[in-house]
Amino acid sequence: MIFVTGGAGFIGANFVLDWLAQNDEPVINYDKLTYAGNLNNLASIKQDARHIFVQGDILDTDKLNQLFAQHKPRAIVHFAAESHVDRSIHGPAAFVNTNVNGTFSLLEAARAYWQGLTGDERSNFRFLHVSTDEVYGTLSTDDPPFSETTAYAPNSPYSASKAASDHLVRSYHHTYGLPVLTTNCSNNYGPYHFPEKLIPLMITNARAGKDLPVYGDGQQVRDWLYVSDHCTAIRRVLEAGKPGETYNVGGWNEKTNLSVVHTLCDLLDQLQPKANGSYRDQIKYVTDRPGHDRRYAIDARKIEKELGWKPAETFETGLRKTVAWYLANDEWVAQVQSGDYLKWVDLQYSGNSSNKNAQEQA
Ligand code: NAD
Ligand code: TYD
Repeated sequence: MIFVTGGAGFIGANFVLDWLAQNDEPVINYDKLTYAGNLNNLASIKQDARHIFVQGDILDTDKLNQLFAQHKPRAIVHFAAESHVDRSIHGPAAFVNTNVNGTFSLLEAARAYWQGLTGDERSNFRFLHVSTDEVYGTLSTDDPPFSETTAYAPNSPYSASKAASDHLVRSYHHTYGLPVLTTNCSNNYGPYHFPEKLIPLMITNARAGKDLPVYGDGQQVRDWLYVSDHCTAIRRVLEAGKPGETYNVGGWNEKTNLSVVHTLCDLLDQLQPKANGSYRDQIKYVTDRPGHDRRYAIDARKIEKELGWKPAETFETGLRKTVAWYLANDEWVAQVQSGDYLKWVDLQYSGNSSNKNAQEQA
């Protein structure tokens, strides 16, 4: 079986669902269930005996030691993290705790477990660390996209904590020989995406008749990857990646934030038209994020050349699927938009407006 951390979050849940749809190998899903972890993401496999959910913190090395001894996983796929840049600006401590100390604790448990294995079990074991392109910092318009050899230059507490975790993972290979694999991927989108991130926030705010808050001038660029393509990439790296190597995973979809919001509004205008006007009328420019990275872009040629992976979705097909999923899953949205979510929206967006709407700025 495989051991997944953070499998109740956005990408982790998509990965677990995808994994069990592709093969019969059981999954231990270890997740603390922070505000971002949601068992409703896993409702469709609630009765599936191949899925064992354990609530726990990656900082708890003793619990990890016990679980590894009991279940003998052949691989660990590590998604668990604090993942939202804006939250890392308001409260960086949780990011250092989970992303740095938590990854360290998980590595320690993995090392002890792996060192106790013998023969094929030892040589076939893998620790796959899921990371981000944000560790490379920011690009200007004319720079080539990030490759696996781009120097690390993280700019936010989130990306700095992920960079630190990548370095720890690398060192466990170099020093102890732990068979690690690292993937650095671009911005994901798709079903079960928590509506604090750009795409689901815009879809849910648009439908609720609320402002669509675009930071700064909206000309920042992200390289969008449909989440199921990311899951396929991780499966492929787990299967055929070379221990010690890192693989950049991207969608070849560089878009400005404003163009993403426009495309979303246009899709909603088609699929669920308003009585009057367009969803674009709700766009509002708000104060920019401090230290906002201008552009991310991934050069995904290594994983394509060496492992034969490339994304199946274009931005247009992926975004249409995503909007359709949100239109069909009102209950899921209503459940996540409660409690802590409301506090977050108040902290991040109340009074955060440059009082200019889209038309005024354009
Ligand atoms: P998410 O915030 O949606 O989910 C994180 C999950 O980890 C949640 O289920 C949460 O409960 C769990 N978790 C948090 N702290 C934990 C702890 N201490 N112990 C155990 N579980 C804990 O995140 P996501 O968007 O699914 O991202 C998953 C991974 O992919 C992260 O490592 C993130 O850095 C990376 N990543 C995400 C993106 C993206 O666009 N979302 C892009 C690149 C890389
Ligand atoms: P986000 O989804 O938070 O991902 P990341 O910061 O990890 O790239 O944001 C994507 C882009 O959208 C980023 O440039 C910030 C911008 N953004 C807004 O303009 N408004 C918003 O309300 C949010 C959440 C993000």
